[in-house]
Amino acid sequence: MGARILGTGSCLPDRILSNHDLEKIVETSDEWIRSRTGIVARRISGPGEETYLLATKAAEQALAMAHIAVDEIDLIIVATISSHMIMPSCACFVQKELGARNAFAYDLNAACSGFLYSLNNADKILQVDREKTLLVIGAETLSSRTNPQDRNTCILFGDGAGAVVMHYSTDATGVIGSALFSDGTLWDLLYMHNAPSCNPDLIQEGNPGAHILMEGSEVFKYAVRSMEKAVVELFAQENISLEEVDLIIPHQANIRILNKLLSRLGVDKEKVFINVHKYGNTSAASIPIALDEANRAGRIKKGDLLLLCSFGGGFTWGATLIRW
Ligand code: ACO
Repeated sequence: MGARILGTGSCLPDRILSNHDLEKIVETSDEWIRSRTGIVARRISGPGEETYLLATKAAEQALAMAHIAVDEIDLIIVATISSHMIMPSCACFVQKELGARNAFAYDLNAACSGFLYSLNNADKILQVDREKTLLVIGAETLSSRTNPQDRNTCILFGDGAGAVVMHYSTDATGVIGSALFSDGTLWDLLYMHNAPSCNPDLIQEGNPGAHILMEGSEVFKYAVRSMEKAVVELFAQENISLEEVDLIIPHQANIRILNKLLSRLGVDKEKVFINVHKYGNTSAASIPIALDEANRAGRIKKGDLLLLCSFGGGFTWGATLIRW
């Protein structure tokens, strides 16, 4: 008994930026990027593809699949760290675009773990308000928050959005449980300033504006260890064996992180859905985009057990189990 996904949707910008394109911008190579990250291309937003518009299109697809009318939506949660404005929230812009006049809407910031945190919010809300219909979205345009001259980061990130529509489930389907964590003491291994403050007393030294800064190898180590720990704790908490999982949809950050995680967990690669080669790291959007692709490709059947896991800035990380 928990929040059940009724429909999924996703939206990717049209423009494809390949590794070969990046070779013309920074000192890098297709071979270096592929071997270190598994990424071959990423999508980059242009005019008309702002975060809230990608989110809205993903939401429209999810609503169509779920056969839910816009007026039926009670709540919109958008997991994002790259809305085009800080206020109003991206979720309020999505509400406006959809015309979802009966909904209230808010953003959730948990970096790449934002979608899993949002699913957890949705699940808890539906346990109490069982009649509600929720729209949960992960949407990012991190290309706008990445220094195009910083080869450490510009090769990694891409843009996109994924969405799910959720209802309370009266049978055994839906969110089974989550194990979510954060550790703010490690904030400076992966972070992004806002634009510098207007208040001279609050100007921070070295604030370059909205660019991602990262200690890549440290992030790598923490990502593998933390996701492994979250998965192990979740299965112990729910008293379920990892062998029972039908499909794993991890945050799509980097193929080497995923390979290391899967080998530590002893998981068969056939059970894992991967699309990082096509889209790079789309942060909070990566899991719902992958979920939608897997769903539309027929990789998920009714009754399947799905494991989602993520890691991101904060640090934030976690794992979620869903019975489809
Ligand atoms: N092209 C060529 N060379 C590069 C590039 C590039 N794009 N970027 C960095 N380098 C250079 C560095 O300058 C460095 O050179 P130096 O030794 O002369 O100083 C060298 O390559 C570093 O090489 P490695 O140490 O072998 O790099 P590594 O194997 O650690 O790979 C990477 C770097 C890909 C960033 C890796 O650490 C990583 O994947 N980290 C995780 C980062 C991540 O996924 N962040 C996303 C947000 S968090 C999340 O979603 C999980």
